[in-house]
Amino acid sequence: MASSNQGVAFRTPPEALASEQAQLNPFDWYAEMRREHPVRYDDQRGRWDVFKYEDVKQIVSDHETYASDVASTDIRLVDRDFDTDRAPSMIRADPPAHGRLRNFVNSRFQPGSIAEHRARFEQIADDLLDDIDSGANVDIIDKFSHPYPVTIIADLLGLPRDDYDQFLTWSKAATELSLTGDEKAIESNKRRRARVQREMREYFSNLISERATGSGDDLITLAAMNDELTHEEKISFCLTLLIAGNVTTVNLITNALWCFEENDLFDAVRTGAVSRTKVIEEVLRYRSPAQTVRRVTTKPVELGGRRIDAGELVLARIGSANRDPARFDSPEEFRPERSPNPHIAFGGGIHFCLGAQLARLEADIALEKLLDRFEVINPDLSDLSPQTFLYGVKSFPCRLETGN
Ligand code: HEM
Repeated sequence: MASSNQGVAFRTPPEALASEQAQLNPFDWYAEMRREHPVRYDDQRGRWDVFKYEDVKQIVSDHETYASDVASTDIRLVDRDFDTDRAPSMIRADPPAHGRLRNFVNSRFQPGSIAEHRARFEQIADDLLDDIDSGANVDIIDKFSHPYPVTIIADLLGLPRDDYDQFLTWSKAATELSLTGDEKAIESNKRRRARVQREMREYFSNLISERATGSGDDLITLAAMNDELTHEEKISFCLTLLIAGNVTTVNLITNALWCFEENDLFDAVRTGAVSRTKVIEEVLRYRSPAQTVRRVTTKPVELGGRRIDAGELVLARIGSANRDPARFDSPEEFRPERSPNPHIAFGGGIHFCLGAQLARLEADIALEKLLDRFEVINPDLSDLSPQTFLYGVKSFPCRLETGN
């Protein structure tokens, strides 16, 4: 079956999710699939979709059966997240390469190391919020949710300050994905993204060379000075951090505001009546920014009563797993302080999100600052459009007012 997915873009949605409405709310379809076809093969897309918590958890935990290096099989995806043809980054690598590509940086993302940056992240949030006038109608993604994590990643990588605007423009272009519409538009989008990737590669390549003998404390220097990585692997590492640490957190922040509006929670979170830490976990479960992870089977396997051959592409739907009634009480309810909350929004196993603690801290500061600064946060949910890259919306119009 593997050959039938040749030429199908990774993010091509199944027919059931073709409409914008269904992409904003895939949860009814997930519920139906969990009941009717929890492990199903999609002939049109030539891949498997997996919906139940236990099965998805099994996939992300068992890297020997479910590999991440898609390039090692005969599957050729026309749309990759970014150009990793030259060297995979950790997210698309299997052991033993995975350990080499991840371990050198692991300690920088542990809770203790991340917490040291709190004051700097608060400053970044404050600076962005200073640029928003009270009474303004703004797209909160454009003004805050997007520039905030991108500036943080730029800071951690150690980019020169003068390059931040360029970095922001690249990050936007790299994740603006067109999968539908006329072929011309799709083609020109692909060309634009390829150009941006080339420019970013060249940019990082130069910085890495410059810092190979450096003494800085930034992540580019850390990668540049590592003898176990090739030059191309160092570039892929930088690109991965930019992409993986970007839209995901943008969507966590915006999806939180979306959930707060739907559940009338702004005051409760602002006053601390609802714990910010817990409500962020519930947003991660309820509107998971990454709804799927992909794997390739390395051998034939039985899952949910179905036999999957070796070399098949499998999409583990973590957004569905996080709403599985077999694991969560009343999963379709947003319970701000849900406990326990064993969601798998950050994946699991050896590929468990490197940036999970960073994302949590970023979201905590972002929401604290935003809610403190603006007494009125009035989103307009009437005309939301879905993103194609991850689960979230393209823009999030809001009226913001300070108390004075
Ligand atoms: C709400 C925010 C985020 C979500 C929901 C999220 C989600 C995920 C998920 C589901 C995976 C597993 C992918 C797989 O198994 O194939 C992952 C891996 C990863 N994430 Fe995140 N992520 C977030 C934020 C971040 C941030 C801020 C960074 C920045 C450092 C980051 C860097 C990574 C990296 C490098 C990996 C690959 C880890 C590996 O393969 O060993 N993520 N993330």
